Amino acid sequence: MPEYVTDNTSLESLVSLAKRRGFIFQSSEIYGGLGSVWDYGPVGVELKRNIKELWWKSFVSDREDIVGMDASILMHPAVWEASGHLENFSDPLVQCGSCDRRFRETNVKDKICPECGGTLGDSRQFNLMFKTFMGPLENTSSVVYMRPETAQAMFVNFDNVLTTSRKKIPFGIAQIGKSFRNEITPGNFTYRTREFEQMEMEFFCEPETDEKWYKYWTEFSRNWFTSHGIRESKIRIRKHTKKELPHYSKASSDIEFNFPWGWGELETISNRSDFDLKSHSKKSGRDLSYFDPDKNSRYTPYVVEPAMGADRSALAFLSDAYDEEGTGKQKRTVLRFHPDIAPFQIAVLPLSRNDSLVPTARSIYKSLITKFNTQYDDSQSIGRRYRRQDEIGTPLCVTIDFDTIQKDNSVTIRDRDDMGQIRVDKEKIFEAINDRITRLKKTYNPK
Ligand code: GAP
Repeated sequence: MPEYVTDNTSLESLVSLAKRRGFIFQSSEIYGGLGSVWDYGPVGVELKRNIKELWWKSFVSDREDIVGMDASILMHPAVWEASGHLENFSDPLVQCGSCDRRFRETNVKDKICPECGGTLGDSRQFNLMFKTFMGPLENTSSVVYMRPETAQAMFVNFDNVLTTSRKKIPFGIAQIGKSFRNEITPGNFTYRTREFEQMEMEFFCEPETDEKWYKYWTEFSRNWFTSHGIRESKIRIRKHTKKELPHYSKASSDIEFNFPWGWGELETISNRSDFDLKSHSKKSGRDLSYFDPDKNSRYTPYVVEPAMGADRSALAFLSDAYDEEGTGKQKRTVLRFHPDIAPFQIAVLPLSRNDSLVPTARSIYKSLITKFNTQYDDSQSIGRRYRRQDEIGTPLCVTIDFDTIQKDNSVTIRDRDDMGQIRVDKEKIFEAINDRITRLKKTYNPK
């Protein structure tokens, strides 16, 4: 693990860096922006893709017992009746009698409006699902909902997946996709938004084995974060109290991260019991039970669900990586990302745009880009370019200078964390980079 100098990242510095370096922009900014809706720029999209690809690798590709799917956002409205979302997926809302603003009841104290000091009315339930209409008629029979979780598609497709994948229980179905919630109080940058991406896995198991799998997936998820660079001190597991449990859950635990404003949920692992499969069997009339050929018995599987947010994870990785060192002109902001999470692993930097340097630099760039996510940067001074790469968390820079061409056929490899530099023969760049990246990864994933 690289050594950190500071440990008190402010949300303002994250938001400012995110905008300055192309991680995250406010949606529709040229029109004044759309509140709490965000767009990922050229650097941010690489960060988020890395997170989703690493999640998919750990939860799907590297495992025999999990398969993937990719479902539509719009589903039959009966899905949300059976799942309980129409009835239960709501937050208590209070409205101010003076300014008409609305708040989540849990966010206000003593019935006083936090905006104008007016008196807040009685609380009522507000359903968080976004409604829209399917087809040209806008009436109650054409109402459909934007899914508030990706999970339901995996329950309603349970039988299709089981039959076509020929899996046996225990096995899981995973997907990554957008979900929508009309949150009453979104905020804290990308932490709580109305449109977000989830990475969810539904693990179907024998009823008596649910607690074992619940523990297994809680630990697996926690380790997933720490093995990709989140510091142990920044992460914790918190069990839900009975009152907090979602309507479908027998037990839930949150993996929490210590964000700049305090501890917040990154992922929830829930024991959903047989609630969803039984509800859908009942409502659809389709039998979603499972015949166990080894035990010669039939049962409705239990489900253990690790449900992670891609946007919250990206914010946590960004926040955890953020570090500042030095003061005045020596001040340096650096993102100490794990090499697999870093938007770019390598930057190729010719010392200048001099004609004699460019062909060699371009040819090194072309060879590296096939193996690593690599940037080519030749604008401004080399010092500024190093700072820029530090600010987007690129672990290694390869610099081509006049000695490379005229003298020693070698390049400089510069390290993001300690700014150390080594000289490496041009023919041995791959070996040297692999060696340094492997060493850096080992410090994040100690055995
Ligand atoms: N299928 C279960 C489920 O959706 P959840 O705890 O409501 O569980 C799972 O959501 C994860 O999705 C959360 O831990 C969080 O990372 C992410 N998430 C939920 N609501 C969000 C929102 N409004 N904005 C951003 N991410 C959100």
